[in-house]
Amino acid sequence: MFLQAIEITDQIMSLLPQGSELKSFIRHKVQEIQSMLKMHNSALNENLKLPILNIIFKDLDGFQLTKGYNSSQHDYGEMRSLRDYIDAFAYSKNLKKENACFTDLGCGLGKANLVASSIFKAKKSIGIEIIPRLYTMACAGKMLFQSFDNKRELSIEYFNSDIMQSLQIWKDSDVVYLNCLTWSREVVREIVKLFDQLKAGCEVFCTLKIRKNNMKLIKTIEAEMTWGRGRVYLYVLR
Ligand SMILES: C[S@@+](CC[C@H](N)C(=O)[O-])C[C@H]1O[C@@H](n2cnc3c(N)ncnc32)[C@H](O)[C@@H]1O
Repeated sequence: MFLQAIEITDQIMSLLPQGSELKSFIRHKVQEIQSMLKMHNSALNENLKLPILNIIFKDLDGFQLTKGYNSSQHDYGEMRSLRDYIDAFAYSKNLKKENACFTDLGCGLGKANLVASSIFKAKKSIGIEIIPRLYTMACAGKMLFQSFDNKRELSIEYFNSDIMQSLQIWKDSDVVYLNCLTWSREVVREIVKLFDQLKAGCEVFCTLKIRKNNMKLIKTIEAEMTWGRGRVYLYVLR
């Protein structure tokens, strides 16, 4: 287990372009996870998944990583804790099925993707992120988790691309997450138009209310977000 973790640490290092500060940050996380597993005298198991995810994302600051991007669409925001993602996605029927494909449109650090893949067992988990620094951290988080999970290949794929230009990548999704509270309504409208090309039965979790004939509101979920108490609306495409 530990040898594999060291090998993967080297892989993560080769992925990171930013220099030594980020590298020592990742090394520190590998050590922290190893100590936690040693303390439990266990390899990764179901009970330890959430604590490991918490270590991976602890002190990672999406706001800091979006510095220099001044449009409202790049304002960073998340659910307050990983538990909030789990509680919200627990309302999904599709994530309980075998072979579900989950997509986070604007995935930031990749928290939703790791939750969907590791806690909910999504068969495929796709993250689309336009900001390279966030994309890089999402990739590093995935590799970190995977380095301790030698039972299963996590099928998470991150793409450093624009939601509007990448429909081909995410059009087969069974569950889509769109955290877009600060985005311009025109941009959201354009993204929602693309939802017409998703399959019937696809679930959409969205932080904004969508009014569209072919999208049926199933549930309004209260969630703690980094900007305060918010709502996540769950729709099913007809
Ligand atoms: C509010 S954050 C949400 C992060 C993540 N979905 C979460 O909830 O944990 C929105 C993210 O979408 C990204 N984003 C904004 N416009 C985008 C676009 N057109 N294509 C891809 N990513 C985009 C931003 O860079 C930011 O990381």
